Amino acid sequence: MTVITNIEDLRVIAKRRVPKMFYDYVDSGSWTESTYRANESEFQKIKLIQKVARNMEGRTLKREMLGDMMSMPVCIAPTGLVGMVHPDGEILAARAASNFGIRYTLSTMSIASLEDIKREVNQPFWFQLYVMRDREFMLSLIERAKAAGCDALVITLDLQMIGQRHIDLKNGLAVPPKPTIRNWINLLTKQRWCWNMLKTKRRQFGNIVGYVKDIDDPSSLAAWTSQQFDPTLNWADIEWIKNAWGGKIILKGILDAEDAKHARDAGADAIVVSNHGGRQLDGALSSIEVLPSIVEALRGSNTEVFLDSGIRSGQDVLKAIALGAKGTMIGRSYLYGLGAYGEKGVTKALEIIANELDLSMAFCGLTDINQVDEKILVPSTIPNPFKMN
Ligand code: GLV
Repeated sequence: MTVITNIEDLRVIAKRRVPKMFYDYVDSGSWTESTYRANESEFQKIKLIQKVARNMEGRTLKREMLGDMMSMPVCIAPTGLVGMVHPDGEILAARAASNFGIRYTLSTMSIASLEDIKREVNQPFWFQLYVMRDREFMLSLIERAKAAGCDALVITLDLQMIGQRHIDLKNGLAVPPKPTIRNWINLLTKQRWCWNMLKTKRRQFGNIVGYVKDIDDPSSLAAWTSQQFDPTLNWADIEWIKNAWGGKIILKGILDAEDAKHARDAGADAIVVSNHGGRQLDGALSSIEVLPSIVEALRGSNTEVFLDSGIRSGQDVLKAIALGAKGTMIGRSYLYGLGAYGEKGVTKALEIIANELDLSMAFCGLTDINQVDEKILVPSTIPNPFKMN
């Protein structure tokens, strides 16, 4: 491995190694990508207060998320098509996460199936479920997730329709890629990826293909969402899913204090403040700007607040924790590691984030992540977008 010191280094290598259409799928947002960019830039505006001359020995990043002790307050977010970013990518990432002592979340739209993760990794993980029209199929996924040993269900609420991502349409994104001249030419420059892809049999949506009938084009995410995802989704459905599942649920995609209260009332064990990595409603606020209002709305309740969208460093994690998040989730940060170096790259991404988090916490004068609160932040830099003058 060349000397890798930050997530950006991994991104640059992933861009070289991952076929263009799958790299672009990861590294893009919807429409103008303004929310996608804001997710990162708004973190930069929040400033930390340094403290000196304090004993910094014996530091710990251990923190509970949903009652389970994680080695740091970071989990792997559900991301689609991971097995196209790197062949068998879901298995490699799940292994890296579990060896690191954090949770991996498998997406409904993954290449490896629930059963693959159970067989190849055999550690607890979370499963992300989309609310689909075909309730029988949803119930069967819930049963499969139970059998695979998943200990929480992540229900994504913000993808009943897909935010238009220009680049995916232009690239003709499909799983597996269509055999066009443009794709062949690009694949010729990705020999490592092609070789690993030849060695695996996992090249389709593993949770779906073979389990559902009547899809016009099983290779297309866009066709899938418009045919299968249920636009009538409402809070009553969540209670129905919670009952069918019988375990912990995490509701993902909350950007509004009132919705956070609905989620709490629907029985959410946790919510994820998320704009889907800037891939859905372009023009929405960044996740970190919205976080304080949601933490405030849920103060005193047992529903934990997680945050994703925009985390590219341990400092970003620290700022989210300081603003009241119980934990965070990362998507692109781990996918860049995966695309660059497979399992080792995911481990590297996690090490980078843990190291940055640990050192930044120490600079702020603290030795335990559970001591972190708003006092480490410069007050005037704390986001407050709903303030009326
Ligand atoms: C799916 O969740 C996507 O953002 O493409």
